[in-house]
Amino acid sequence: MAIAKGSAPRAERRSRITYNPAVRAAECAVIRSRERSIMSTTRKVAVIVGSLRKESFNRKMAKAMIGLAPPSLKLEIVEIGQVPHYNQDFDADPPQEAKGFKGRIQQADAVLFVTPEYNRSVPGVLKNAIDVASPGAIGAFGANHHLRQSLVFLNVPAMPQPEAYLGGAAKMFSDTGAIISDDTREFVNKFLQAFSQWIEKNIASQHA
Ligand SMILES: Cc1cc2nc3c(=O)[nH]c(=O)nc-3n(C[C@H](O)[C@H](O)[C@H](O)COP(=O)(O)O)c2cc1C
Repeated sequence: MAIAKGSAPRAERRSRITYNPAVRAAECAVIRSRERSIMSTTRKVAVIVGSLRKESFNRKMAKAMIGLAPPSLKLEIVEIGQVPHYNQDFDADPPQEAKGFKGRIQQADAVLFVTPEYNRSVPGVLKNAIDVASPGAIGAFGANHHLRQSLVFLNVPAMPQPEAYLGGAAKMFSDTGAIISDDTREFVNKFLQAFSQWIEKNIASQHA
């Protein structure tokens, strides 16, 4: 399921799905939480959707992922539409909406980005959310390459693989928002399982 580049194992390469690049679902990673117990089996995952559009395919995918998540992951969408523009002048006393957003990210064990690509980059609203959350809040991530570029600077461990790129989104969902194709559902399932395992590995390494 991993959309690995070049070095993917043979079996993995066979199971890849070829996608049109209409929608990219970029995955993310683990937040540093040294205080958090590694005994907990259900990890809280903040899901950030990079599109504000009402009928967003990425939002549909995020909701489908919530329904498909294994018991080890509790996924919750954290909205970014109301997060104010980042302004360093307000670092000492950020606006309430920024504090609320940052607090929800800090409480999560991991962040999962489900985002479209805008002009070969991430949507500005998503970049802004990262900027707002980043001072002191985010400790680990994994995402598409442009996203990684910003996050490497934040010293955030990123899940190297799998990355998930999904296309053909206009035909992906039923009227009720369910993923129509069994193959795609299986693909998302495998991605979430891998993400869950990676979270555990990452948290364990922080406590080693
Ligand atoms: C401003 C803008 C820029 C876009 N740039 C890209 C792009 O660089 N690459 C791409 O594959 N799709 C691009 N698209 C298409 C979007 O990925 C597509 O519309 C997607 O469905 C938007 O996500 P949403 O359905 O969750 O709103 C762009 C769309 C918009 C509106």
